[in-house]
Amino acid sequence: MNREDFPFLEKGIIYFDNGATSIKPKCVIDKMNEYYYNYPSNAHRGDYSISVRSSAEFEKARETVKDFINAKSTKEIVFTSGATESISQAVYGYFKNKLKSGDEVLVTKSEHASVILPWFDLENKIGIKVKYIPLNDDYTFNIDNLISSITSNTKVVSIAEVTNVIGDIRDVKRITSICHEKGIKVLVDAAQSAGHINIDVQDSDVDFLSISAHKMLGPNGIGVLYGKEELLEELDSIKKGGGMTISFDSPKEIVYKELPYKLEAGTQNIAGAIGFMEAINFINKIGIDNIEEYTCELKRYLVDKLKKLNNIIIYNENVEGSTVAFNVKDVFAQDTAIYLDKHNICVRSGDHCDKKLKDELNITNTVRVSLYFYNTKEEIDKLVEVLNNDKILEESLGV
Ligand code: ALA
Repeated sequence: MNREDFPFLEKGIIYFDNGATSIKPKCVIDKMNEYYYNYPSNAHRGDYSISVRSSAEFEKARETVKDFINAKSTKEIVFTSGATESISQAVYGYFKNKLKSGDEVLVTKSEHASVILPWFDLENKIGIKVKYIPLNDDYTFNIDNLISSITSNTKVVSIAEVTNVIGDIRDVKRITSICHEKGIKVLVDAAQSAGHINIDVQDSDVDFLSISAHKMLGPNGIGVLYGKEELLEELDSIKKGGGMTISFDSPKEIVYKELPYKLEAGTQNIAGAIGFMEAINFINKIGIDNIEEYTCELKRYLVDKLKKLNNIIIYNENVEGSTVAFNVKDVFAQDTAIYLDKHNICVRSGDHCDKKLKDELNITNTVRVSLYFYNTKEEIDKLVEVLNNDKILEESLGV
């Protein structure tokens, strides 16, 4: 990997908001432009050569995702607009039809809105019960607490593999094995883990898994719902439209295509899928284990440096991963972010769409640095230098 592969980095901006979205290498942008310039046609709908090419590239992208997460078959790879849609597709398209009033779904208070809200909706609409697996004192996942939270009514465990603020890496394989022994299904959001750690859905045996391409060098508006083939066969798509049926003579005579097409209504994000494929190829060249090792090392480096400052409160210092959540003492998180922006440093501040985490942290807002493999120790040194300055307090107080 070369920082020159990322045109945006030439701007001299220090980008530490990779949990929100990643920046894109030139090859991803070029690959999408190539589609728009040379064969900007629909897929699976044309018999002319540029459409045949679109279809072929789109399916090559599916194959690439399949290999990336080691799914058994491309039938298990459904393109969506991103992780949020993937989770909703699984909750509303599968679980809503399977669950009944009183059934329990286990989540944690550090999950993203996209994980919790669909279940809240089912609690309101069909009377399921959303329950929280208690977290450790450092807000990380606790396997024993998972086991003790399971009751005879537990039907689903729905969690992120890596959460977006605390950033702890959950052992999906172990969680799945505990759950499957009791007939519980597992839905994992891999929005923050894909492109950061290795994902192997056959090894972990997870039932459903969601991914967003834009957090792993790919474009916006494309993601994947992975589901085991037999589960996807029973999933009733929340979207209906062109491309998913063989015929529809009447409401009772709808003949759907086979997987995954029966779950992909409407014109797909073809450029997005092609860009996503290129992003995966780029990541594969670097090696996912190298990425994990390097970003974890960067986090440790950042934490060590921040700990030397006496004005910083860190909320997840011992958590292995690539995210650091902190506050500057007596400074509102958004003020810190605005102050850092003046120094060309991008971080996220606020509740990060985790509106239940405040119950655990006892504060609503944090500053988040989320690292990726193009970040450097020099960038971290610059951040620490800028934070180690009384001006931040003065500016936040408006003096
Ligand atoms: N879920 C994204 C984040 O954590 C947007 O910032």
